[in-house]
Amino acid sequence: MTVKVNRHKNHPLLPLISDKEQLESLAEKFGTPLYVYQAERLQENIKRLDSALKQSIENYRICYALKANTNPHIVSTLFQSVPSMGADCSSPGELYIAQKVGIPPDACIYTGNYESSTELETALNSGVHLNLDDITSYKRLKKIGLPKELSFRLNPGFGEGRFPAIVTAGHDAKFGVPREKIIDAYRHPAEDGIKQFGLQCMTGSGNLKFDYFVQLLKTILEIASSIERELSLQFNYISMGGGLGIPYKEEEEPLNVHELFKEISEVFVRYYGNTNSEWPTLIIEPGKYLVADTGFVLSRVVGLKESYKNFVGLDAGMNTLLRPALYNAYHRIYKVGDPLLSPTHTVDVTGGICENTDRLATDRLLPEISEGDLVAIMDAGAYGFVMSNQYNTRPRPAEVLLINGAPKLIRQSESLDDIFRLCNWDRDTEA
Ligand SMILES: Cc1ncc(COP(=O)(O)O)c(C=O)c1O
Repeated sequence: MTVKVNRHKNHPLLPLISDKEQLESLAEKFGTPLYVYQAERLQENIKRLDSALKQSIENYRICYALKANTNPHIVSTLFQSVPSMGADCSSPGELYIAQKVGIPPDACIYTGNYESSTELETALNSGVHLNLDDITSYKRLKKIGLPKELSFRLNPGFGEGRFPAIVTAGHDAKFGVPREKIIDAYRHPAEDGIKQFGLQCMTGSGNLKFDYFVQLLKTILEIASSIERELSLQFNYISMGGGLGIPYKEEEEPLNVHELFKEISEVFVRYYGNTNSEWPTLIIEPGKYLVADTGFVLSRVVGLKESYKNFVGLDAGMNTLLRPALYNAYHRIYKVGDPLLSPTHTVDVTGGICENTDRLATDRLLPEISEGDLVAIMDAGAYGFVMSNQYNTRPRPAEVLLINGAPKLIRQSESLDDIFRLCNWDRDTEA
């Protein structure tokens, strides 16, 4: 009997990774490491999500979580595919890029945390939906001015994420207003005359468990109903935050978003009745779901080392893709040209950074790899470039967007001069 091994079954970019000629030509033209994205996959992801929502819910908004990837070409590709798309911004910088791309302020939600007064003022003046992390943020905001509408980020007392470091609610989380204090938080702005409200909740990232979202929404709507009853108000919108996961491993199944939002709509029926048009607008803030599997880091094998462990050394490292070093995140690594090759060796994959935590994979089974080979570190479209850094004074790589296979340079690689450009230092004129 032959056992069917379910490896490499569905990565959407597999045909691209198999095309050695194309990727060698990108490496030659733009250098490595290189972030490579595929425009068609960006379009597919947002259209699939939009149609799943549209099928079951009348009033909804996808607010793309800009923190995942702020390259304006990426944001604009998503926005052009679904023009009703809004943005979830968590800093003045993300607000800036939303405005540059032309996303209307009314379609944006701003969720900071420990926001300074300057930051609050920027967000308030921009006209976006303001979502505050805490009642103390409201007190700071009040000294600047009052918005027409306000929401708070709820911490329902539990959270769930792909791994503990990316759980963003519960008793250990720094985010949000605890469930026990949420009515009080809304009482202040209500007493100050604010009449329009939203409620937001983001409990963790990378979830593939269908039921979790349904249970989470039940909790959110139960809490929302108690606030509405207690303070005689009605929410304009409910945001479930982001957190929709993608399969980072071969054996994982993607979320069935059509089924998910069908069930989500049934929860709305229970709390807000059968008339879909009378429900509060449902906002979701996906980051990973839209962009993670649309991009990878193309990197060259620099050296192989046999020590107490075996190492594959790349020209990409924790400076290029921080997630594995930051929280042991798993990213598939394929050999370019031959991603289906059977694995034979257990190795750690590392870069050239002077930190022992510089790992892209630990104890990973990989096929035979030689110096000079190209590899693709998958699912780097989200939290890839945005978390990259210049540690060890290594300039950040370029980003390329493939549109129908044709490469478009969407960010040049940095030079050493770029790193020091703002230091305004010249040896000849220094005293
Ligand atoms: C408030 C908020 N919204 C949305 C997101 C996006 O999460 P994800 O990329 O898991 O969809 C995050 C991520 O931390 C977040 O903090």
